[in-house]
Amino acid sequence: MNYGQALAELLAIQTQLSAEEILQAIETPPDPKMGHLAFPCFRLAKELKKAPPQIAKELAAKLLENRPAWLDESVATGPYVNIFLNRAVFAADVLVEVLDAGQSYGSHNQGEGQRVLVEYSSPNIAKHFHVGHLGSTIIGKSLDNIYRFLGYDVTSINHLGDWGTQFGKLITAYLKWGSREEIEKTEIDGLVKLYVRFHEEADNDPSLNDEARAWVVKMQNGDEEGLLLWRWFIELSLQEYNRLYQRMGISFDLIRGESYYSDKMDAVAKELAEKGLLKESDGAKIVDLEEHGMPPCLILRSDGGTLYPTRDIAAALDRYKTFGFDKCLYITGNEQSLHFAQWMKVVELMGCSWAAGLVHVPYGMLRLEGGSFSSRRGNVIKMEDLLDEAVARTLAIIEEKNPGLTNKESVARQVGIGALVFNKLYNSRIKDTMFDWERTLSFDGETGPYVQYTHARACSVLRRALSGESTLDFGEMALAMVSKPSFNGKLLTEDESFEILRLLKDFPRRIEDASVKYEPSIIARYLIDLSQAFNTFYTKHTILVDDNKPLRLSRLVLTAAVRQVLKTGLSLLGIASPAVM
Ligand code: ARG
Repeated sequence: MNYGQALAELLAIQTQLSAEEILQAIETPPDPKMGHLAFPCFRLAKELKKAPPQIAKELAAKLLENRPAWLDESVATGPYVNIFLNRAVFAADVLVEVLDAGQSYGSHNQGEGQRVLVEYSSPNIAKHFHVGHLGSTIIGKSLDNIYRFLGYDVTSINHLGDWGTQFGKLITAYLKWGSREEIEKTEIDGLVKLYVRFHEEADNDPSLNDEARAWVVKMQNGDEEGLLLWRWFIELSLQEYNRLYQRMGISFDLIRGESYYSDKMDAVAKELAEKGLLKESDGAKIVDLEEHGMPPCLILRSDGGTLYPTRDIAAALDRYKTFGFDKCLYITGNEQSLHFAQWMKVVELMGCSWAAGLVHVPYGMLRLEGGSFSSRRGNVIKMEDLLDEAVARTLAIIEEKNPGLTNKESVARQVGIGALVFNKLYNSRIKDTMFDWERTLSFDGETGPYVQYTHARACSVLRRALSGESTLDFGEMALAMVSKPSFNGKLLTEDESFEILRLLKDFPRRIEDASVKYEPSIIARYLIDLSQAFNTFYTKHTILVDDNKPLRLSRLVLTAAVRQVLKTGLSLLGIASPAVM
C-alpha cells in the first residue's frame, strides 16, 4: 500500500487541490515522533483566506471523521497536518508485501522496455589490473545489478583500453629488449617491466617515442607483425583480468575494447568535417568548444594518429547504431570528467539527439596509505594482491572469532572481497575514499562484514526456529505465517519493530533513488541503517520466546523479512551473503 497516495486522496476530498498536487507536497517528518507523514498547509492559505495553522487544525479534525484503518491519528502541528499510521495495520501490510514479493521485493519493473548500456571496469591492456580500476569495476557492477533488478534491458560492456600509443611503446620495447620466454613466464609483470624501461630510456632518447608512434600508425594500417604481438599482449592481460573478475563474481555481456573501433574512426573525422565542425590547429584536427566553455576536443593528431576522444565518439556512434540505447553509462574516475564532457558535447553538436542519453558517472579516488598511484613507473597496487590480502586478513579474523566454522575459506573469500566492495560503495561515489584495513574489515561499524554478519545472525535465528520443523525455506515459512488470517501486526508495534518496518517499506524507493542518481551508496547506507535497527531490536527483545507462540511467530516473520531485504540489498551491491559467518 502507498500511504502517501492514500493520504493525498483523502486530503483531495477536503481541499481544492488534486491528489497529485498534494502528493507532491507530502513530506516525511524528520523525527517519527512528530508523525509518519506530514502535509504543509501553506499552499491553501491564499485561497481559503486563513492562516495555515488554522487550516491544519481543521483538516486534521476532518481526517479523523471517516478514519480508515491505517490511519491512527492526525494532529495539527503549526502549519502541518501530521499523520500517524496504525502500527499494527502497517506491520501486516509491509510484511506481506516483502515476503510475498520475496527476492523481487524492491523492484516495480520501472525499466521495462528501456535499454541501458553500462560500460565499466575497462582496464588498460598490458598493465596490471590495479586499484585505479577498482572503483569503476565495483560501482559499474552495482549499477549493472540495480538497473537489471529494476527491469531495464541491460548490456554490460568492458571497454578495454587496447589501442593507442602505449602499444607502440610496448612493441618498440619488446623488440629491443624483450624475449618471448621471459614474457610467457611473467605475464603482465614482464610487459610492465618493458613499459617502465621504455619510459626510462625515452627520457634520454626521445627518438624512441617516434619509433613507438610509427608502430601505432603501422598497426592502424594493418601491419601483421605489430598486430600479432598486440594480440598476444591482450591474451596475456585477459588471463589476469579474468581471474579477478571471476573472484569478484563479475562477467560482461560484451568485452569490446577500443581497438574494435579503429576502422570506424576515419568516418568520424569525415562526418565532423562534413558538418563543418573540424578545425585545423598546429597540424592537428580539433573541434572547437570555446563557446561551450571547454578546451578543444582533439580528433586527429598531426601524424594522423587517432586519439582517445575520437575512439569514444566512434564507440558511441557504433553503440547507438547497434543497440539503440535509451541510456549509456560510463563509469570512470573523475579525472576523466573533462574528457567525457568534451566528446559528449561533440556528439551533441553532430546533431545526435540521443546524446542526451550519454551519462558519465565519475567517482573519487581510492587512497591507500602512501598516496595515490600511477602505473607509468610501475609502482602500482595490484588488484590481485589487494584481494589476496583482504581474504587472508578475513580468514585470520574468522579463525579468532569463530574457529569452529566449517568452510572458513569460502566464507573468508565472500567476506573479505565483500568488505572491499562495501568500503568503496559506502561513501557517495564522487568522494575520495580513504582506505585502511582495520576499518574496512571490522565486523562492526559501517562495513560490509557488519551487514553480512547481521544477515547471518538473522539466518541463525531462523535456522534455530525451523530446526526439525519442516523443509520450507525461511521466506516460504514466513509468508505462510503472515498470510494466515489469524496473523496481525499487533505484536509488532513497539518502537524497535516499527523502525525496522519503516525501513523495509522504504527499500523500493531507495533503490529507485540509487538508480536515478547512479549512487549505490544510497543502498549501502540503507543496509547499515537496517542492520542497526535489527541489531537494536535483537538486543532488546527475545525473538524465540518460549511461552508466547504468536509473539514468537511475529518476530520470526519480521526477522525473515529483514533477512530477505539484507540479502537483496547486498546482492545489488555485488556482495555475497553467507548464511553463517
Ligand atoms: N581504459 C580507460 C582507462 O583506464 C578507461 C575507459 C573508460 N571508458 C571510455 N569509454 N573512455 O583510463
